[in-house]
Amino acid sequence: NQLFKSIPGSSISNVPRRTSKVTVVGVGNVGMACAQTILTQDLCDELALVDVVEEKLKGEMLDLQHAAAFLPRSKILADTDYKVTADSDICIVTAGARQREGESRLALVEKNVSLFKKIIPQLVKHSPDTILLIISNPVDALTYVAYKLSGLPPNRVIGSGTNLDSSRFRWLLADHLDVNAQNVHGYIVGEHGDSSVPLWSSVSVGGIPIISYLKQRHIDYNPDTLSELHRIVVDGAYEVIKLKGYTSWAIGYSVASLVKSVLRDQRRIHPVSVCSQGFHGIKDQAYLSLPAEIGRSGIIGVMDSPLTDEEREQLQKSAKTMAEIQKKLDI
Ligand code: NAI
Ligand code: LAC
Repeated sequence: NQLFKSIPGSSISNVPRRTSKVTVVGVGNVGMACAQTILTQDLCDELALVDVVEEKLKGEMLDLQHAAAFLPRSKILADTDYKVTADSDICIVTAGARQREGESRLALVEKNVSLFKKIIPQLVKHSPDTILLIISNPVDALTYVAYKLSGLPPNRVIGSGTNLDSSRFRWLLADHLDVNAQNVHGYIVGEHGDSSVPLWSSVSVGGIPIISYLKQRHIDYNPDTLSELHRIVVDGAYEVIKLKGYTSWAIGYSVASLVKSVLRDQRRIHPVSVCSQGFHGIKDQAYLSLPAEIGRSGIIGVMDSPLTDEEREQLQKSAKTMAEIQKKLDI
């Protein structure tokens, strides 16, 4: 362009930057919350959007492009043709039916499996080296389906799992203890849903294990308070869906944290949906959430967290629930 004159003696060469490309499939409430958060946090150089509703897809792309003056520079593309997703470093799948008020996530499985049969092969065809990040529900079963359909190694197929539940858990604990949620560590594992398992043995506040912390601060607690906190986590999504019809903002931030751990090779530990077979005495190839180290190659390793007998039993029960569902799937 003729707008600028180069400084004499300069040699402006196009140094090939290591660019990162993210695809989001499904531009609904969740897909757009993910897209918006990823752009705001400057996590990618290129964002490709895919959906089946062409008008909405184009409108969402334009609406994001119009924010260019307020965002870090990213190329935003959109198409119903999966060619637009080519060479994506990470593909986020949010397409599919969502729960109606009071409906379990598991009720969505048939509908969303049939969508995945079209979506997953297309994504892998255009980005054979990609990492798949599954969000659509029931996310554990659909992560298993994506793994089976994609032919990718298991470390490159991740479900957002209880990354979101664990944030709800940490928020509740932080609120209860009047400390910052970023100083409350702890994991919800198992199913992203009704049979999730709170790892109370993993919960620490400022590095102090929660139970001894409560004792140290002479804060009264009883097991009912702890299980009541977990029930509020499990009911969290149902409550938001009842109030606003869907959930979106928290999952958008949850997904951006996972995308950052992958694309910036952060090696952070996230509770995400992985193949749990062989962990904690789980015999089935059940996909459910365990604390895993995430970096540029996806799942680097799964933590072999020390569980109490009760936590182990609950986790094995959650694994059985997931394995039963997975066995019935027509993939
Ligand atoms: P939505 O109805 O707003 O959006 C779904 C989008 O998928 C629509 O734009 C639709 O056109 C698109 N779509 C449908 N079939 C498609 C196909 N074959 N290819 C591409 N796009 C297609 O739903 P919302 O609220 O965005 O939820 C999406 C999914 O995310 C649901 O399954 C929901 O349960 C799940 N979810 C998962 C969470 C988690 O923590 N894992 C949290 C919140 C939602
Ligand atoms: C959640 C549901 C929708 O927000 O999966 O946890």
